[in-house]
Amino acid sequence: MTNFSSTELNVPLLVVEADPAVRSRLAMQLGEHAIPVETLMGVEERYGSAPFLLVLGPTCARSGDLGGAEPLLARRPDLGSILIAEDLSTDLFQRAIRSGVRDVLGAPVDTGQLNEAVSRVASTLVVTRPSSSGGPSTEAGGEGQGRVITVFSTKGGAGKSVMATNLGVLLAQRTEGTVALVDADLQFGDVAVMLKLAPQHTIVDAVGSFDRLDVGFLETLLSTHPPTGLKVLPAPLEPAFADQIGADQMTKIVRLLRSFCDFVVIDTPAYFNEVVLGLIEESDDVILVAGMDIPNIKNVKIGLQTLRLLNTPMSKIHLILNRANSKVKLEVSEVERTLQVKAEALIPSDVVVPQSVNKGMPVVLDSPKSPIAKSLEQVADLFAPAVEPQAKKRGWR
Ligand SMILES: Nc1ncnc2c1ncn2[C@@H]1O[C@H](COP(=O)(O)OP(=O)(O)OP(=O)(O)O)[C@@H](O)[C@H]1O
Ligand SMILES: [Mg+2]
Repeated sequence: MTNFSSTELNVPLLVVEADPAVRSRLAMQLGEHAIPVETLMGVEERYGSAPFLLVLGPTCARSGDLGGAEPLLARRPDLGSILIAEDLSTDLFQRAIRSGVRDVLGAPVDTGQLNEAVSRVASTLVVTRPSSSGGPSTEAGGEGQGRVITVFSTKGGAGKSVMATNLGVLLAQRTEGTVALVDADLQFGDVAVMLKLAPQHTIVDAVGSFDRLDVGFLETLLSTHPPTGLKVLPAPLEPAFADQIGADQMTKIVRLLRSFCDFVVIDTPAYFNEVVLGLIEESDDVILVAGMDIPNIKNVKIGLQTLRLLNTPMSKIHLILNRANSKVKLEVSEVERTLQVKAEALIPSDVVVPQSVNKGMPVVLDSPKSPIAKSLEQVADLFAPAVEPQAKKRGWR
């Protein structure tokens, strides 16, 4: 990744750090446009009322008022700032975000990550500046409404997360715009592991600063899947945090995401709860994953009955049968008759799936020529057409 150039934005980029060695390393990572300063003293006078961008070093993170940034940001909500902290605790993260810091990164920070964060915060500065309201930059329910696809099953281990991650990466490859994947399996979500991501932030950070949550802030919490550019909002790192996320909060997060994404794919736990019901209601499509065994079919039948009772339009439900091989001695037609729904795709069972899961590489990328990858592509065809190989989105932007 190239270093971010603040001249592209016409705002100064300041690196604030008292330790000279750390200061020059950060400035070097950010490129020639970074202006290293020891403290924030005199900075406001130097730049007047014009906006600027601050990268606050680990010494600021250790000080009581974030090295003077707290009072400055309280006066100047138009400034963009990123904090780099050695001990990145949830407490520090929340304090920083409440003070107006737009992103917090762990030290030592990776050059790519740092420049990506600067670029992201810089772009929100440009977006929010004309309105200068200080409030959320984009509200849900506006013009841009991406398609929300929830992957659900009433049986654990049916293949929801495999389906959600593969669908997410395929849509990211097929779409020019942004595709987000939300892990709403709040207790035991494993989307980040399946994509080999080591996220800096999770959905807990979004909910922890809920009153400040807007598109710009939410974007800073998303992790990027480098091979495809898919944007991921991971589940909490510990099951105990799951309780902090309510149905209304989850719905607001999805509404914010769909306001700037073309697709929002959501992975869920294997049971109905308030969060899942809210998500199903918010979704344009619900992929119902069923494994090819009697307990799966029994539970999916109950799940379908529940959805009907909840007045979920059957037109938005897509039944996908997983592990649908001839060897399992259960006929697809028999399953469809039992469920009274026609399957829209059949996914075979293949050892390349657990192999790809263990590598943290979705099977459509790991074994793109395998029959299972082809069948997963058919699922993506339901939502976005395949693109010619030469026209495919190469990397992420
Ligand atoms: N078509 C398939 N062929 C072979 N293995 C599969 C297939 N689909 C899923 N698996 C394996 O089954 C396991 C469960 O899949 P996955 O985690 O996607 O299910 P889940 O529905 O998300 O489970 P949970 O309810 O625990 O979240 C994984 O280890 C995966 O490798
Ligand atoms: Mg799962």
